[in-house]
Amino acid sequence: MSKQDKIKELIDLRGQAKLGGGIDKIESQHSKGKLTARERIEILVDEGSFEEYDMFVTHRSTNFGMEKKKYLGDGVITGTGTIDGRVVCIYSQDFTVFGGSLSEAFAGKICKIMDLAMKIGAPIIGINDSGGARIQEGVTSLAGYADIFQRNIMASGVIPQISAIFGPCAGGAVYSPALTDFIMMTENTSYMFVTGPKVVKTVTGEDISTEDLGGANVHASKSGVAHFLLEDEEEGLLLIRKLLTYLPQNNLEEPPSIDSTDPIDRREDSLNEIIPESSNQPYDVKDVIHAIVDHAEFMEIHRNYAKNIICGFAKLDGMSIGIVANQPSFLAGVLDIDASRKAARFVRFCDAFNIPILTLVDVPGFLPGSSQEYGGIIIHGAKLMFAYGEATVPKVTVTLRKSYGGAHDVMSSKQLRGDVNYAWPTAEIAVMGAQGAVEVLYGREVSAIEDKEERAKFVADKENEYKEKFANPYQAASLGYIDDVIEPRNTRFRVIRAFEMLHTKKDVNPPKKHSNIPL
Ligand code: HXC
Repeated sequence: MSKQDKIKELIDLRGQAKLGGGIDKIESQHSKGKLTARERIEILVDEGSFEEYDMFVTHRSTNFGMEKKKYLGDGVITGTGTIDGRVVCIYSQDFTVFGGSLSEAFAGKICKIMDLAMKIGAPIIGINDSGGARIQEGVTSLAGYADIFQRNIMASGVIPQISAIFGPCAGGAVYSPALTDFIMMTENTSYMFVTGPKVVKTVTGEDISTEDLGGANVHASKSGVAHFLLEDEEEGLLLIRKLLTYLPQNNLEEPPSIDSTDPIDRREDSLNEIIPESSNQPYDVKDVIHAIVDHAEFMEIHRNYAKNIICGFAKLDGMSIGIVANQPSFLAGVLDIDASRKAARFVRFCDAFNIPILTLVDVPGFLPGSSQEYGGIIIHGAKLMFAYGEATVPKVTVTLRKSYGGAHDVMSSKQLRGDVNYAWPTAEIAVMGAQGAVEVLYGREVSAIEDKEERAKFVADKENEYKEKFANPYQAASLGYIDDVIEPRNTRFRVIRAFEMLHTKKDVNPPKKHSNIPL
């Protein structure tokens, strides 16, 4: 073969690899409203930046005549690219080849790109669209999955790991995304479950559709498995690009800082008005977040799950910040099991990747009741406490209104190593709310008063007395639990200054193998 023929052969082979399972399969993929594995990568990375590896890998199976059915690349595309000029490692499962099912060779390609990501300290992005273990290969695919799981575990807290679910992801295959930091799912075209509807029907008799069992909406709102719910794949791929603008490449780097054109001393007069007259009235804490952060840009995580707590990323004078805020407009911002788990995981992510945390507090307490107790609110609430207490990144807390009981301690209080703790003049920092306190302290006296009006007046007087004494930030400030009481409209400025001051903060935890967070 001449040199020119050899080059032509290479070009032909590349062309063949790029066709994946062939034109028909690509059309079938498109007809389902899905992009191909390669089209997804093109949208994800900076134009022309993708370097593909292992394009010529094929499977090694000889079962069921498989030796006659080989596709270059074997159903997964791996390589590196850049996003806003920063390197990322990628694998993208190709449903057009054996339904994106995982063979030994396929798993080897994923492991190889994950190993590279760890070596160079770059985020790994996995695009999932697969029928699971390649049935013709038997047990080797189980080992292949486990090889990937082990790498996910080792990479956790070292490099950001992001999973996009753009098609099926079922059985044991769900556990790789589950081990990563963020999962996103497309509406109507993706699903995740440990066992599908047919097995569910056989084992439990329950009749349930794929969508109701493991569709994107279910995981984004009920289970909390998915952090982001997407209308389509393009939205998801652009969202990954956006997400990475808040994250460092790895745990040894600082998150990226950009020049901000939003003045740091921008006053927000609306914040002086935002807290309603009655402390039982709700308001939307996202309005507070938008007013404080650069250009009102907030990337919310878990938007549809545990809406009583808000988590997400923003920039403050160009610095990446993780924000946790109780949401008074949903369940009064109470802490329950889901909210505790959601925020704990977010706080730990931020801490692992050197992202400072801003906490906005307006919490009436933990949600009472048997369903919460039976569900283990004690352990789940402790997760959030643990996460805050263990975190060594800069932590700035602003108490907007309520901060009661155990929930006060949990929400990045001074004693959990909160670095700068501010309160608005509307803050109510106390052991419990006025109504509960009066019931406990004066229960006997109240029931001894026979006249209804007189009883109501007695209760109201006592509640007012309690509120006067405790429903303010000054007792906490007098003890140094609050560093300063600030005017709401100055919050942006005060918080930015606090984070700038904390930039050189060093805090350490005692040496240990690892902590034993209450799981
Ligand atoms: C081999 C597979 C495959 C698999 C799909 N294909 N899944 N080949 N192993 N697991 C092939 C199909 O044979 C078909 O090939 C092509 O991919 C497209 O599949 P279709 O069925 O035509 O597509 P669709 O109708 O969209 O259905 C997609 C699907 C279905 C729901 C994923 O294919 C399916 O149920 N597959 C089996 C899923 C499964 O049970 N996997 C094993 C789970 S156990 P042709 O040549 O006809 O085009 C598991 C254990 C992991 O994963 C454990 C980890 C610890």
